[in-house]
Amino acid sequence: TSASLTIDPAFRIAPVNRRTFGSFVEHMGRCVYTGIYEPEHATADEDGFRKDVLELCRELGVSVVRYPGGNFVSGYRWEDGVGPREQRPRRLDLAWHSVETNQFGLSEFDRWCTKAGVEPMMAINLGTRGVQEALDLQEYANHPGGTALSDLRVEHGVSEPYGIKLWCLGNELDGPWQVGHKTATEYGRLAAETARAMRMVEPDLELVACGSSSRSMPTFGTWEREVLRECYDLVDYISAHAYYNDEEGDTASFLASAVDMDRFIDSVVATADGIGAELKSDKKIGISFDEWNVWYGKRSMRTDGPGDQWEVAPRRIEDEYNVTDAVVVGNLLISLLRHSDRVAVACLAQLANVIAPIMTEPGGPAWRQTIFHPFAITSRLATGQVLRVELDAPSINTAKFGDVPGVDAVATYDKQSGDLAVFLVNRQLEGSIELAIDTSRTPVTGVREAVTVSDDDRNAFNTADQPDRVTPKPNTSVSVDDGKLTLTLPATSWTALHLT
Ligand code: AHR
Repeated sequence: TSASLTIDPAFRIAPVNRRTFGSFVEHMGRCVYTGIYEPEHATADEDGFRKDVLELCRELGVSVVRYPGGNFVSGYRWEDGVGPREQRPRRLDLAWHSVETNQFGLSEFDRWCTKAGVEPMMAINLGTRGVQEALDLQEYANHPGGTALSDLRVEHGVSEPYGIKLWCLGNELDGPWQVGHKTATEYGRLAAETARAMRMVEPDLELVACGSSSRSMPTFGTWEREVLRECYDLVDYISAHAYYNDEEGDTASFLASAVDMDRFIDSVVATADGIGAELKSDKKIGISFDEWNVWYGKRSMRTDGPGDQWEVAPRRIEDEYNVTDAVVVGNLLISLLRHSDRVAVACLAQLANVIAPIMTEPGGPAWRQTIFHPFAITSRLATGQVLRVELDAPSINTAKFGDVPGVDAVATYDKQSGDLAVFLVNRQLEGSIELAIDTSRTPVTGVREAVTVSDDDRNAFNTADQPDRVTPKPNTSVSVDDGKLTLTLPATSWTALHLT
């Protein structure tokens, strides 16, 4: 089978947005404790941060990290996580049925972000709390000094304000599982009043209102409409969350998950723009796709106990990702990049151990899951402008999405450096695809890097014992000849090309 692709630097969508390569650290399972933070670990630094994980996080190319939840934040008291560690309370965490020790909190997160070279994205509790507690956190975190809470921060040893710019106004409040779940109107009003008050202190904050927890929520669409009707002028972004799997054994549809993400983004954009039209506003609301990944309820083998033990940092949803999952993650990144004109932030959920690209063992090693690779390579190679590409590929039939293209692709082009990157997937379960890329409209003449993630065993995954069972391999099929590049895309594969 063959396919063709045309790349033209004039087909610009928007600049590559570094915040597309965000991730998410929640107080859940072992993401924080024995994930990024483990003072007893052999690699722990003076702050108790695992240096092996910090190094992997930098290699992953993460730009922004959302924290501290997730469902956790909807019952969280931020004050529990600041000040002397020995005085911090242990609390019940209703979201994940565990005990939170609060040994890691705001200032640890801020220090960790500095060391990881990432921007913090702070979520506030609008489940059990409201406007006042949001303002208190903002004063503690961002006010320079001379007030009770900013002076308390100074007393806690942090003289400079954290200067957090990007804030999530709650988490998944459309979900009945959420502590403090609300109707769209209740939430929209609370988001509006919280945003209004926070902007009285700092007008230039970037604020994210909660959109739907998934596109399949019964309230999807109406939730976005009602929430934005209340807070359109007061927020910058609306969130979207999506998790994919092939639990029903429908791998063909699973491999086309990016079609769902495309439709999800397009519908939220349409809904937001519809409210903008009603309000006669020129403002455009961006999308914060602040939770996305592959997540198997059933394949989460490493979930401790029946969930009624109230343990500290139990193993929760430690999914092991295979080759197919890595191809899907690579394709979801293609979808996010393609929507760079509207996707302002995106966070791979989560960073360590909990449905994560980075795995660790307590006291033991850290390693890269399969999904680590497409993320790290895309983050490293995507620069300049995102380019729409013209694709001619065979269709595949899927139960969920009908006929979809068997190949998906996006490109980025940096005029200054001359770097052109192309990200590609072959979504077919069987059969490689011979792809011809017309590069005659671009100045590129050579291939600097061509790597593919694929395997004879689509179910292969990496473990502590075999951390490099699945890694990207050079794609040796590439040849360039006078404005035309050809290569083979193996069945169920993800490929990146770096051309110059
Ligand atoms: O990432 C795991 C959980 O998924 C988050 O806590 C929640 O926001 C979502 O439902």
